[in-house]
Amino acid sequence: MQIKPFRIEQYFGKYEFTARYLLSSSDAESRTIKELLDLEPGAHERLLEHWCGYTESPGAPWLREAIAAIYQQIKSGDVLVLAAAEEGIFVLYHALVGPGDHVIVETPCYESGLELARSTGAQVSEWRRTFESGWAHDVAALEKLIQPNTKVIYINTPHNPTGLLMPAPVFRQVLALAASRNIILFSDEVYRELEHDPATRLPAACEGYERGVSLGSMSKTYGLPGLRLGWLASRDPEIIRRCLEFKYYTTICSSAPSEFLTALALRHREVLVQRNLQIVLGNLRLLDAFIQQRPHWFDWVKPNAGPIGFAHFKPERDVLGFCEEVVCDSGVLLLPGTVYEQPRHIRFGFGRKNMPESLAQFGACLDAHS
Ligand SMILES: Cc1ncc(COP(=O)(O)O)c(C=O)c1O
Repeated sequence: MQIKPFRIEQYFGKYEFTARYLLSSSDAESRTIKELLDLEPGAHERLLEHWCGYTESPGAPWLREAIAAIYQQIKSGDVLVLAAAEEGIFVLYHALVGPGDHVIVETPCYESGLELARSTGAQVSEWRRTFESGWAHDVAALEKLIQPNTKVIYINTPHNPTGLLMPAPVFRQVLALAASRNIILFSDEVYRELEHDPATRLPAACEGYERGVSLGSMSKTYGLPGLRLGWLASRDPEIIRRCLEFKYYTTICSSAPSEFLTALALRHREVLVQRNLQIVLGNLRLLDAFIQQRPHWFDWVKPNAGPIGFAHFKPERDVLGFCEEVVCDSGVLLLPGTVYEQPRHIRFGFGRKNMPESLAQFGACLDAHS
């Protein structure tokens, strides 16, 4: 298997745990295990008594029930629990795709959505979106990319890095297109439930189409990436079965304490979502004003879902060099668009409680540059 370096994670690996002000994180504010346990009387004692043996490979039945409850038509048997979304992407592609197959990936995207498809030996086409067209989705272009051997279409909504939701009519067209050719629609929904207006939430792909597969995670909306717990949900039993067969070779089963804490968190997910949504909405107001006040530096399509956004960087400067200078001089971590093949962009993250402080530091740094 040939796999390219994961530039997003490499960049974060270099700075995330030393930079003082994180202004590009992709997750919402986290919480401690104690804060999670405090959500439910008796949870502390039950965690201490929780058995630490192997768990069932598809995921503990009570956890799959809790995950299925996020959806309407999904049953616990339609869910496969995995070590966060990252394992879900790896397992789905490697279980279902190989040389001779064709995959279409919406880009720019979180790198593993593209590179893990390539690592299977399949031919991969990009369904490209651009800032110049307002990050619009060109469905006619998607249709042209489809080949007789197209096995999977990967989409991501709400979207990393733009923080934009796929418009509902486009989502319906993509589902219909995949259904008309019997193509698996692999829908990365790790930011679902963090739409800035909950009324704009899209149906999950696993509910809209029999061969739709929804990828979920505790990492982003719920702010619990340290649990390393995610899932695939699909009403096609063959897809879930083949992914399970592959999971036997990756992690066999999930972490028992994480399964316990995830089920607990999901029983109270409204509390987690509400707190994180309030942080995101307050921070976005500040960040949008910051960008509007600096038209010589930035310009963007304002995000409408999730805790990240992708700003166009206007100076004729090397964006990677700029971001490295900023982190070294002021301790503010930005993510250069070069890691998405978008050298004129910077990713901002606004899901953290201390984001106003990070933004003020970045403002002072820009003033010094001006
Ligand atoms: C769109 C998208 N998918 C998947 C992942 C991986 O998330 P996890 O931490 O659940 O493995 C990320 C992480 O940034 C992401 O942004």
